[in-house]
Amino acid sequence: MRLAFTGILLAAAMICGPTHAADIAAGKAKAELCVGCHGENGISQMENIPSLAAQPDMFIQWQLVFYRAGARKNEQMQPIVDQLNNEDIRNLGAYFAQLPPPKAPPDDKPDLSKKGAQAAVGGRCASCHLPDYAGTKAVARVAGQRQDYLVKALHDYKSGVRSGGGMAAMASVAYSLSEEEIEALAHYLAHL
Ligand code: HEC
Ligand code: HEC
Repeated sequence: MRLAFTGILLAAAMICGPTHAADIAAGKAKAELCVGCHGENGISQMENIPSLAAQPDMFIQWQLVFYRAGARKNEQMQPIVDQLNNEDIRNLGAYFAQLPPPKAPPDDKPDLSKKGAQAAVGGRCASCHLPDYAGTKAVARVAGQRQDYLVKALHDYKSGVRSGGGMAAMASVAYSLSEEEIEALAHYLAHL
């Protein structure tokens, strides 16, 4: 466990090291591998697949490192990360981070959003995800993310299915959320 984590830190240190600047054009070219699932311009049209547009650069890089190290597991992502070197990961982070964020659909259930907003205050979500929920550094953007994926992510933290280096914060947050709160939070955040 400790060894695996050290491996992740080493990989991350190599990625974050000051050796080269990220190349957005190269990231865009590499993102051809991602379009089929994560959508054109990083806006997903597929159930349970997250949009990547405007995610913080570091969040994207960390998640790719977690998948590659096997610390976060997903059958669809595994064969993809096996093809990525550290430079690809750096370039992909820079590319997706500078794309315009997803546009939220019109809110069809404002009452549910109100409940979600209250649950977000209770869970102090904005203290890490920022008041506009755009995320920062290793903290994900959740504003405008697909509602089905937000529900899935919160369930995965709550049940312990989702692991990695950054999940400790979310595991304790999600553990105490009720099913009703998860539905309301996901609806609220997806419509921001
Ligand atoms: C075959 C479909 C598929 C392809 C191709 C694919 N992904 Fe994914 N990706 C997924 C799925 C499904 C998830 C969600 C996994 C989960 O629920 O844990 C995901 C999750 C991610 C995440 C975590 C995002 C988050 O919000 O938690 C990142 C980052 C990511 N993919 C980047 C990429 C990049 C970069 C590429 C191309 C180099 C790529 N993916 C190609 C299916 C795919
Ligand atoms: C202490 C800081 C902190 C708090 C408080 C917090 N989060 Fe997070 N959140 C994070 C971090 C860090 C990540 C990325 C974790 C990882 O690497 O898996 C994250 C990830 C997520 C994700 C997954 C996003 C994705 O694209 O995969 C969701 C959904 C989420 N948070 C929702 C919430 C909600 C809703 C609340 C309030 C109830 C909340 N968070 C409170 C730090 C926090």
